[in-house]
Amino acid sequence: MIDLLSDTVTRPTPAMRQAMAGAEVGDDCFGEDPTVRRLEDRVAELLGKERALFLPSGIMANQCGILAQTRPGDEVLLEARAHLLHYEESSLAVHGGLLTRSVPAARGLLEPDELRAALRPPSPFHPRTALLALENTHLDSGGRVMTPERTAELAGAARESGLAIHLDGARLWNAAAALEVSPSRLVEPVDTVMTCLSKGLGAPVGSMLAGSGPVMERAWRIRRRLGGQMRQAGILAAAGLHALEHHLPRLPEDHHRARRLGERLAMLPGVAVVSPETNILMLDVAGTGRTVPELLTGLQARGVRMGPFGGSRIRAVLHQEVADADLAVVESAFASILGRTSLTSSAY
Ligand SMILES: Cc1ncc(COP(=O)(O)O)c(C=O)c1O
Repeated sequence: MIDLLSDTVTRPTPAMRQAMAGAEVGDDCFGEDPTVRRLEDRVAELLGKERALFLPSGIMANQCGILAQTRPGDEVLLEARAHLLHYEESSLAVHGGLLTRSVPAARGLLEPDELRAALRPPSPFHPRTALLALENTHLDSGGRVMTPERTAELAGAARESGLAIHLDGARLWNAAAALEVSPSRLVEPVDTVMTCLSKGLGAPVGSMLAGSGPVMERAWRIRRRLGGQMRQAGILAAAGLHALEHHLPRLPEDHHRARRLGERLAMLPGVAVVSPETNILMLDVAGTGRTVPELLTGLQARGVRMGPFGGSRIRAVLHQEVADADLAVVESAFASILGRTSLTSSAY
């Protein structure tokens, strides 16, 4: 099966498993796991933040970052299609007592004017707007990237109104690779940033939260409250360190494959491709005359898995287990369902 459902389907490579097996460990609840410490220091350095924390998931890391900078009853501003709003089980409301207010953005990326229009002066009659949460890359719009300039402009506007800024950077590494800038430059304007090791980087488990010392101190307590502390977690942290060293540099390959596959599939009748900026390819198949379930079942029967992504959209995500040769298989599977012969076999 060529599995393009998500970049989370990857399994640890033999070298990563070896690094995990050989990891030096200790009880991280007492701060005694040297491998977790190394990972946290490495990520803090890469992101240019004072301190980083290792967490089991991105959803928990998002909560720790946001809850550490808000109080129950506060309001959090989010772009209308943010992962935090739609895919995180209302965790900000349930665990943080937070009100979320969404700001519509045409292409998934907030415009500074749209944000400014949503900001309001402090008033005893309105909730206190405490935090702006951004997302880079933006999942729902097909992995779009937000530039450092845009991030700084949005963060600047929010900060003028006294808001803290959290970045959901589940795929921050992809954004940095696509823009050819350092991850630290991308997150320089934000107070806290969450980023995942378990997506394009190919680690089996783990996300990081980074920020300043005092905020991370509060985040540490919230992680504990949520039950997110782990004991001999060095086995997992070793996978993260391995991923940063060996898999981070290869992300542009995934971006290149997403682009090539998109160009090829766009030649098929009725397939509209959202031009991929990173490793996510969004296909609108309304024009094919086939339903999304029909196409997905047909692909599955031909050894290719993709996922539905609302309406007439199908999502394909490129990752380290997909090779050039697989792309030709994906293309001919699509073509054969649509009753076409494959375009050419030498495109990759
Ligand atoms: C943009 C974004 N944020 C947060 C998350 C949550 O990460 P996790 O699945 O590790 O909880 C995801 C997961 O897909 C994501 O795509």
